[in-house]
Amino acid sequence: MTELNQIALKIISKGKGILAADESNGTMTKRLESVNLTSNPENRQFFRETLFSSECMKDCIGGVILYDETINQTSSFGKSIPELISSSGAIPGIKVDTGAKKLANSAEENITEGLDGLRDRLKKYYELGARFTKWRGVYKISKIYPSKLAIHTNAHALARYAALVQENKMVPIIEPELLMDGDHSADFCFNRTSEVLKKCFEELIIHQIDLTGIILKPNMILPGNKSKNSISIEEISKKTIECLKNSVPQEVPGIAFLSGGQSEIEATENLNMINKNNDTNFIMTYSYGRALQQSALKIWSKNTQDKDLTQKTFNHRARMCSLAAQGKWSNELENK
Ligand code: G3H
Repeated sequence: MTELNQIALKIISKGKGILAADESNGTMTKRLESVNLTSNPENRQFFRETLFSSECMKDCIGGVILYDETINQTSSFGKSIPELISSSGAIPGIKVDTGAKKLANSAEENITEGLDGLRDRLKKYYELGARFTKWRGVYKISKIYPSKLAIHTNAHALARYAALVQENKMVPIIEPELLMDGDHSADFCFNRTSEVLKKCFEELIIHQIDLTGIILKPNMILPGNKSKNSISIEEISKKTIECLKNSVPQEVPGIAFLSGGQSEIEATENLNMINKNNDTNFIMTYSYGRALQQSALKIWSKNTQDKDLTQKTFNHRARMCSLAAQGKWSNELENK
């Protein structure tokens, strides 16, 4: 077992998943303003350190993805943020892409940037304690998208990123996210996701990536958020598993889904059914941002001094996700 494989397994095994707390300052400002709070470095840190010092960090969270501002902050307990995370047994990670920018020669698509100077930034993040990283490629779905150009260029960037990360002894999270926006069917999402994933792995293999030392962070197979045809949780799980079986090489140790705009409950029950039906060797867990933090943020915004209630809310959500990662979640436990 290589060192990278060990790190990947430590993050996602035993019902643990990933807390994606890597919102850029722009995104975090939107989240805080949506609950009438001011976005400044102190508030961003205070909310995040409240989560990172919660009880569930020990059993339910194997890794935390941070943003550049946060990995450089010192918590009010005196420990650096990466030390605070490590002290619970979780592994600190870092988002290293610099965002999705307009893709030249495509009218409406994006390419994720951040490769320039990445090698030096990775060295700095390793010294700060990061042992895994994230890069998100983002794809629109419609009759004409994602285009071949977007599929090819984003896969190439993801592979170049992954090579630099493994060179620096960290585990790259490969995140190709097909957005939920649109009126497409789940089958359409299935076909386009398969195409994107296959191209990503083709490029990862060309770039000689150790596939045992990565974590894949894909979308689930869902109908678009404006689709008139809803499908059952059972169908979502079967289509998601089928798609991954057909597109992901066996060596990959695990898959940590993004929530992508699903509600907390949807993201939990879909993951639970995926695990109930999982007949692959892949570990299937969560790498949720909104679906882990939404309720906790709402509660925190009502009284930012009430650390206990915020942590209680986050502990519950993380425990429900952890049960779902083992196929053991139920409505009864949710409402207990
Ligand atoms: O890149 C996306 C985030 O890491 C996951 O966020 O679960 O809110 O989609 P989400």
